[in-house]
Amino acid sequence: MSNKNCRVCKKEIDELMSFGKMPIANSFILDKKDKQFFFDLKIGFCETFFTFQVIEIPDKKKMFNENYAYLASTSSVMKNHWQELGDNSIKNYRLNKKSFVVEVGSNDGIFLENIHKKMIPHLGVDASKNVCDIAKKKGVNVLNAFFNTESADNIKKKYGLADLIVSTNTMHHIEDINSVAEGMSLLLKDDGVIITEDPSLKEMIKKNSYDQIYAEHMYIWSLASMNSLFGKYNMEIFDIENNFFHGGCSRYFIGKKDKRPISEKVRLHEKDENSLGLKNVSTFKKFSKSNHKSKTKLSELLKKLKSEGKKIVGYGAPAKSTTILNFCGIDSNIIDVIYDNSSTKIGKFTPGKSLIKIKHSDEFRFEKSQFCVLFAWNHKEEILNKEKNFTKNGGKWILPVNDIKIIE
Ligand code: TYD
Repeated sequence: MSNKNCRVCKKEIDELMSFGKMPIANSFILDKKDKQFFFDLKIGFCETFFTFQVIEIPDKKKMFNENYAYLASTSSVMKNHWQELGDNSIKNYRLNKKSFVVEVGSNDGIFLENIHKKMIPHLGVDASKNVCDIAKKKGVNVLNAFFNTESADNIKKKYGLADLIVSTNTMHHIEDINSVAEGMSLLLKDDGVIITEDPSLKEMIKKNSYDQIYAEHMYIWSLASMNSLFGKYNMEIFDIENNFFHGGCSRYFIGKKDKRPISEKVRLHEKDENSLGLKNVSTFKKFSKSNHKSKTKLSELLKKLKSEGKKIVGYGAPAKSTTILNFCGIDSNIIDVIYDNSSTKIGKFTPGKSLIKIKHSDEFRFEKSQFCVLFAWNHKEEILNKEKNFTKNGGKWILPVNDIKIIE
């Protein structure tokens, strides 16, 4: 749906730029001739609620369905990350067999499997059936549905109020985000805690990582915009943690207003955001300009290498790669193949006009190409560590965003 108004406050939005016609980022296709859906990927900023958002959002059933390709458990580092969040929450909020934990966007059960093992009553809610089925096999209790005020009310009637609501890498996926925040407020105990974690606007602007933007990432949240959203429903952020996952995420700790003191970390983060100009549309206009520069730099570099007869492959087919490939006009004439370890992507082609074959990353060790574009740049350490032989054999990695460079 095209929307010239902010989805949170309904006021008019400032349009920033268009990335051109884009497919759904996670819609990897089986046959190159498969009919694909394209939409105009435009971004905008609301100076009233400070929300950075995608303007035209495709129908949610086109994005989150039985073919949803993102599997949270493909990275061992991520598994540990969510296990740690579970362990810390159990300790900090004294969760036990009488508590109730809800996860909005439970994916393949990567977070709740730990909660389930500790016998803590829980419910995962996810709109994509294929990931719900994987979670169920791990013993996780799941509801295949969209989370909103209606489903929140049904959950409350069936299970009672929640002590903890977790929503990681989900808040940026939901168009009717007011309904999610309101649903959470309906379902939360008075002294309960909501923990959300999403890619951070601050990091995206600092790193110029425009590849965070695609259909499914309809918002990139900041402390200021999250506080505006939850403030509407009498809640506030009382603590914050930052990490390097997904290229830089913020974890927000949210409670009902005036229940807990606001931490010093929140005050400091607020200062940082203000000094970066995250409340001003001019900051995002500059960001838009640098995205076009970045596009030219990457496509020229790859075309030059190709014209010199070099073989280029890719590593990781994250949703982020769909934005880079389609925005920069990179296809199978430039990149021969992309290696990835997700069962939902192997054997398929990257979406849109790029149509690059995806092979199992186990086969990467036989790769003799001179260059490899690291599309999963946010997993750089894990991947470079695993694939040391590529470098030993003279292969060079290319980082496709931020300071586009060849790692020697
Ligand atoms: P990720 O950055 O987690 O997600 P997003 O789709 O939200 O941008 O995606 C990383 C991709 O890289 C994913 O398709 C799995 C793949 N991958 C590998 O192939 N090997 C690895 O060792 C790791 C860590 C990821």
